[in-house]
Amino acid sequence: MSGAEFNTLHEMAKLARENLSDDHWDYLIGGADTESSVKRNRFGLDSWVFRPSVLNDVSEVDAGTELLGVPLRMPVMLPPIGSVQVFEAGGGESVARAAEEFGVLQTLSSVCTPDFEEVAAKVPGPRVYQLYLMGDQGWMDDIIRRAVDCGYTGFCLTVDTQTYSRRERDIAKGFVPPSGSRSDQADFSYQARITWDTVAHIKSEFDIPLYIKGVNTGDDARRCVEAGVDVIWVSNHGGRQLDHTRACIDALPEVVSAVEGRVPVIVDGGFLRGADVVKGLCLGADLVAMGRLEGLAMAAGGSPALVRALTIVEHEIRTSMALLGVNELAGLRPALLERGRPMVIPHVLSAFPLLEEGY
Ligand SMILES: Cc1cc2nc3c(=O)[nH]c(=O)nc-3n(C[C@H](O)[C@H](O)[C@H](O)COP(=O)(O)O)c2cc1C
Repeated sequence: MSGAEFNTLHEMAKLARENLSDDHWDYLIGGADTESSVKRNRFGLDSWVFRPSVLNDVSEVDAGTELLGVPLRMPVMLPPIGSVQVFEAGGGESVARAAEEFGVLQTLSSVCTPDFEEVAAKVPGPRVYQLYLMGDQGWMDDIIRRAVDCGYTGFCLTVDTQTYSRRERDIAKGFVPPSGSRSDQADFSYQARITWDTVAHIKSEFDIPLYIKGVNTGDDARRCVEAGVDVIWVSNHGGRQLDHTRACIDALPEVVSAVEGRVPVIVDGGFLRGADVVKGLCLGADLVAMGRLEGLAMAAGGSPALVRALTIVEHEIRTSMALLGVNELAGLRPALLERGRPMVIPHVLSAFPLLEEGY
């Protein structure tokens, strides 16, 4: 099997593993320190079980949605992946092509190739740009202005990365992501100085929707709304930054309740299957971002493989909705879930049990 021929997501993950060196594989699946935040994301998702409603007409299931007026084929976002070009040479441009062909939004990382202006010139948007601050306010303002000028429809600040974490898989091997900084020696002095003043400055200077990525509590979410933030993104960076965080699915209800529907909420962290996405939507997220799924698909076969993976996720979402007795996203609600004890030992790939069984 090659490229985009897989029929299941575990086959995609297997292809990705075959295609990647140990360095690149560990960069993709690894987390910070003990990797407990990575495992907790999966543990959280596995701790919610469905309470389906029966005898509803599900002959037509609609998973389409929108974000700030941008129509989306399904409620999934492709999040920023730094150095994504190590998984497939086309990097952020390949992800952009898949997002455009399939019909979802991409958030492009500032630490991948090609750069944001080249991607914008080559692949039509809409698209969000995520920036790590590598310079002062003047430097940041220049980049935001250029992002607006070349057509980005959203600007994202990642606020869970004020310093770079200790990712032991990378440190132990001396692996340096090509467009990032060396994980144990990075200069994050500008990132470290991002504050609410930065948010106020961006909101007062620029007319582009602002996404704040890395929110984990209701208090911070409320403050974001008060500061005029346009989209709140619940994330622990896929367990790659602060170790021992809550699972993002468990932080989500508190954030949703604080936001009170005033702005859209995105969640990510451990979401690898359509049913995972449906759980996030039941608990009030508007979109779910899938980072390692994006990286695994890119490693399996670039843009066509990513389109194939999204198609499978879409099928999984629609199947889960139909079996829950819901035919449109508005019908997904907390009452369709309850807490349950996880059946599997959680780890970054435990969403693909057939991988372990060798199927
Ligand atoms: C290899 C890799 C690189 C990442 N690079 C970035 C980045 O440049 N900027 C950012 O905001 N988040 C980055 N993230 C975090 C993702 O955007 C997203 O929050 C996370 O992957 C979601 O968790 P999941 O991988 O469990 O789906 C990265 C994640 C991975 C796996």
